[in-house]
Amino acid sequence: MRTASSALRSKDLLGIEPLSPEEITLILDTAEGFKEVSERPVKKVPALRGQLVINLFMEASTRTRVSFEIAEKRLSADTLNFSASGSSVEKGETLIDTAENLMAMHPDMIVIRHKHPGSPKMLADRLPASVINAGDGAHEHPTQALLDAFTIRERVGRLQGTNISIVGDIAHSRVVRSNIHLLTKMKANVTVAGPPTLLPMDIEKMGVRVVHSLDKAIEGADVIMMLRIQLERQGKLTIPSLREYYNTFGLTPERLRRGKEGLIVMHPGPMNRGVEIASDVADGPWSVILEQVTNGVAVRMAVLYLLGGAHMEGA
Ligand code: CP
Repeated sequence: MRTASSALRSKDLLGIEPLSPEEITLILDTAEGFKEVSERPVKKVPALRGQLVINLFMEASTRTRVSFEIAEKRLSADTLNFSASGSSVEKGETLIDTAENLMAMHPDMIVIRHKHPGSPKMLADRLPASVINAGDGAHEHPTQALLDAFTIRERVGRLQGTNISIVGDIAHSRVVRSNIHLLTKMKANVTVAGPPTLLPMDIEKMGVRVVHSLDKAIEGADVIMMLRIQLERQGKLTIPSLREYYNTFGLTPERLRRGKEGLIVMHPGPMNRGVEIASDVADGPWSVILEQVTNGVAVRMAVLYLLGGAHMEGA
């Protein structure tokens, strides 16, 4: 149950699409305070003491899983990590039965990553705990978009009016969907680029400009966000070859040198070096890729805090 003093309108974070610009700004502002906590010698505050958070990761993850766990520990929450491997999911137990059994142990929040779009909403509709979407199929990855926005705001100084080009597998990416929702709500100028087979039809209806070459995407951009090809969601490769893809859409220092002064390069990870991005770019002066990872902890602390605090007030 929500109260008037609740910071966010919903008990859950299922995506960026339902958030207002004010809620996005609140999360980013709150994350600034938590970034400072992460830079202290003692990186811990008691905000979620006594609360139990279950991390239910049914799909592979490095950055999201680890940074949620670190964020929970820095907020003094009790954490439990659950993965499909080694659990009764392997014996055929359904997601909803798994979640209801976990709920019987009274967690306050459940962080879920699942290959099926809509899985977090299915749990949120049935369970009293706050549910946080840590990536559901090709649908949304809200905390990734929030940490990307935090990084852009920190580096460029603002979101409104910033030119952001997102390049790669636009069709199969949950990161791009969440980023487009967030960046257009915050009045940034979003361009997407990729081969025709990796661009969804009618993507312009999401309020973005479409270009078909990497050079056009780089021209005038303040930020280039590179995406990997989501082979796990494509079934089979829908481009002629990875070598040809690199020659056409691979981000290299030579291409970047034609871009704007101060241009930054982002990537949500995991990267496929030599496919969508050259190592000299990933590790070079344009890259803020590891800053994104650092900021992910602060942003996830903010989300947990805003949902967890509101949860206690509404109990
Ligand atoms: N960016 C991201 O979601 O990375 P992981 O899959 O490693 O969590």
